[in-house]
Amino acid sequence: MRIEDPKIVAALPELGVQLKPGTSLAELTSLGIGGTTDMLRVTKHETIPDLLNLLDAQAVPHKFLGGGSNLLVGDGELPWVVLQLASRQPDIVLQRNFAQVDAAADLGRTVTFCAKNDLGGMEGLIGVPGSVGGALRMNAGAYGMQIGSYVRQVKLYRAAARKIETLEGHQISFEYRHTSFAPDDMMLAVKLELPSKPYPEILKGIRICNEKRRASQPLGQKSAGCIFKNPPGASAGRMIDELGLKGLSFGDARVSDRHANFFVNAGRASAKDMLALIAGVRERVEKSFGVILEYEVVVWNA
Ligand code: EPU
Repeated sequence: MRIEDPKIVAALPELGVQLKPGTSLAELTSLGIGGTTDMLRVTKHETIPDLLNLLDAQAVPHKFLGGGSNLLVGDGELPWVVLQLASRQPDIVLQRNFAQVDAAADLGRTVTFCAKNDLGGMEGLIGVPGSVGGALRMNAGAYGMQIGSYVRQVKLYRAAARKIETLEGHQISFEYRHTSFAPDDMMLAVKLELPSKPYPEILKGIRICNEKRRASQPLGQKSAGCIFKNPPGASAGRMIDELGLKGLSFGDARVSDRHANFFVNAGRASAKDMLALIAGVRERVEKSFGVILEYEVVVWNA
């Protein structure tokens, strides 16, 4: 979608918003799939309510992009514009056991920066691509931990109230790859409370998680991480593997040979290819196991 309304275009500089026309979302997502649209890079949190009022007044549909690592975007010219936060510097500020982190900060950088300052707890998240805001929204987790356990405060744009609010940790519920945030809430910053641990000890944990991940996941390939959530008490990857579906392809969309719950873009896969692969695998799992797998990946398909 193109922003052509002169009223919007004229207001953007004052709002601290940069317009990037015709941005390819394939270049901004870890899957390397997605069509084009106009992108609005937001540099000032405070102006977000005004920006959204302006877009809504002119009936311009929009979506919020985080780090693009858990996302499957449709093909072609997209029917909405995309908002993305520009990272604030410094993006991580430490005070005793608290880390105040900008939502646009890189998750891996946050884990290592805190580690170097003797703050641990998030070792399992090393190697998970994406932004802190995305990890927060999804309650990202791995190797027995989840980010939600460390969240003490979240600053966010609340779409329903149309304003920026600060929530205390106890006002948010964090479940397995699910949170109580509304889909159109926009994460802005988070305060984490992390346990003190000497750096060498944290590093040991980080190395173990890195090794496990390298051994079991297709890290060098374009993917969105796990496609499906694990059903209670079971592993989606193991089920897909047991059906012999590793290597199954639609065009260049392919079930990874290394981990069956990772679907990779092995070349120039389209969203159509990837969605066909997801639907095909889901159907076969349902037929064989009677389990309807729930998406973990977020799909923006028109
Ligand atoms: N397995 C297979 N074949 C496969 C994949 C897995 O047999 O192709 C078996 C493994 O051998 C193991 C079991 O299934 O016995 C579980 O596999 P794994 O330890 O890889 O964990 P997972 O349940 O598949 C979850 C998360 C990952 C996270 C890992 C490590 C979900 C959907 N996946 O994977 O998170 O990295 O545990 O904690 O919760 C993600 O969220 O995108 C993600 C990759």
